[in-house]
Amino acid sequence: MDDKPCAITIVCVDCLLERETELQALIATVEAVRSGRGAVVLVAGGAGIGKTSLLRVMRDLVSLPFYVGRCEPLSVPEPLGPLRELAAGAGAAEMPELAAGD
Ligand SMILES: Nc1ncnc2c1ncn2[C@@H]1O[C@H](COP(=O)(O)OP(=O)(O)O)[C@@H](O)[C@H]1O
Ligand SMILES: [Mg+2]
Repeated sequence: MDDKPCAITIVCVDCLLERETELQALIATVEAVRSGRGAVVLVAGGAGIGKTSLLRVMRDLVSLPFYVGRCEPLSVPEPLGPLRELAAGAGAAEMPELAAGD
């Protein structure tokens, strides 16, 4: 037996609780996208409810480009902020029609 101290790594697998309905809805949307329809999904809820966690699980489940735009409660709202973030994630710098703005 090896006497070296061992590092224990705890990996949380399938650790999203009580989100089967939401995951099923997102998976159905992904299937529609795979068949050629575009889709935008709005995930809404209070801070800490699990929006980011849900999207992380989805991102890991699907092998499609996956972009997120966040709605932040800024004191000075940024017009179209979430859409701009989506466009940046999708590579708007290389797509003048997206980078053009408003
Ligand atoms: N359904 C859930 N099952 C397990 N943990 C959750 C769930 N929803 C939230 N959490 C946990 O609560 C914390 C906040 O979740 P997060 O996804 O960051 O929320 P939000 O993006 O809505 O603010 C994280 O540590 C996350 O792991
Ligand atoms: Mg979040």
